[in-house]
Amino acid sequence: MPDPTVALLPGDGVGPEVAHEARLALRLLAPDVEIEEHLLGAAAIRATGTPLPDETLAGCLRATAVLKAPIGDPEFDAADVRPEQGMLRLRAELDAYANLRPAVGGGVDLLIVRELVGGLYFGARGVREDGTVYDTCEYHPSQIERVVRRAFALAAGRRGRLLSVDKANVLETSRLWRRVVDEVAQEFPGVAVEHMLVDNCAMQLATTPERFDVLVTENMFGDILSDLAAAVTGGLGLAPSASLSDSGPGIFEPVHGSAPDIAGRGIANPAAMLRSTALLLEHGLGRPSEAAALAQAVDRGLELAPTPDLGGSASTAELGAAIRAQLAVDGVTAGA
Ligand code: NAD
Ligand code: IPM
Ligand code: MN
Repeated sequence: MPDPTVALLPGDGVGPEVAHEARLALRLLAPDVEIEEHLLGAAAIRATGTPLPDETLAGCLRATAVLKAPIGDPEFDAADVRPEQGMLRLRAELDAYANLRPAVGGGVDLLIVRELVGGLYFGARGVREDGTVYDTCEYHPSQIERVVRRAFALAAGRRGRLLSVDKANVLETSRLWRRVVDEVAQEFPGVAVEHMLVDNCAMQLATTPERFDVLVTENMFGDILSDLAAAVTGGLGLAPSASLSDSGPGIFEPVHGSAPDIAGRGIANPAAMLRSTALLLEHGLGRPSEAAALAQAVDRGLELAPTPDLGGSASTAELGAAIRAQLAVDGVTAGA
């Protein structure tokens, strides 16, 4: 078998700053893995005119896994060609439909399973003659079924509880979502399933997050709830994600964005990106012990060298170095 390849997408804003730390950690933990860098987002628009150049898409499709730093730049906020379009298309092209967003910390250990390639993000949109603008939320039962089945399997491996979040008191797509969840539940008699409306879920996540275990929800609800879950477990700087397909490379990336307000200052928290790298080691490369070592090193590094978002004063590079030093202490790096 050829050596595994990771497509590294440094992205925009704080992206390259946290991607650099991920590259160094991956070098240490998986020296045989080839790292190929590609442009995505605003950096790609500037260099090529398009946010997902053909070369990048091809590189991601042939990679074993994709390690993606955040994209996005206020410069393109009002533009027709936007960085975000490149990343949405990448998710769709890789069919990375199952977005796992764990939020752990402060007595909370939950996992949001977010549908990633359907719903409002990908439905029909446009402008009518009278000036009305519309986005459409659409789901085919099969799109719901596959992500829900993944969520049930994950719930079965944890505490045997699955919470499905929707807006079934208003939306047709949510009523379909509920029906499909109840159907798939028949395949998992060991998992207790509950339904909750999304507004109530947001309230309870803010007030009693420790009550939650595995949540499954549609694309946009999952986007919003995952920032909230990150906030109640230590902040966006800590929250990783894995976006998986049925076959082919997954995309591993922080939940947070390009943080233009702090970009270029070397103070972004690299933990979310490094925890995404740990998820890549586990789910993308099938190396659970390296993944666990990195996750543990991140936890210890955060205690020793917290960044300003956590009330500390360490730089991105200082926290990255503390984490790598921890890997060396644990004797898990190739050179140690
Ligand atoms: P953001 O997540 O970039 O920032 C929100 C707040 O969290 C900011 O105050 C920021 O400084 C802080 N923050 C985020 N990550 C941090 C880190 N690692 N360390 C310390 N502080 C951190 O959200 P936003 O400002 O709404 O979006 C900025 C851009 O990012 C937009 O263009 C948006 O489209 C894009 N975005 C991209 C992704 C992605 O690539 N997956 C995700 C979310 C947002
Ligand atoms: C995320 C981001 C993206 C999303 C944006 C940048 C398109 O917020 O990954 O959470 O909404 O999926
Ligand atoms: Mn988001």
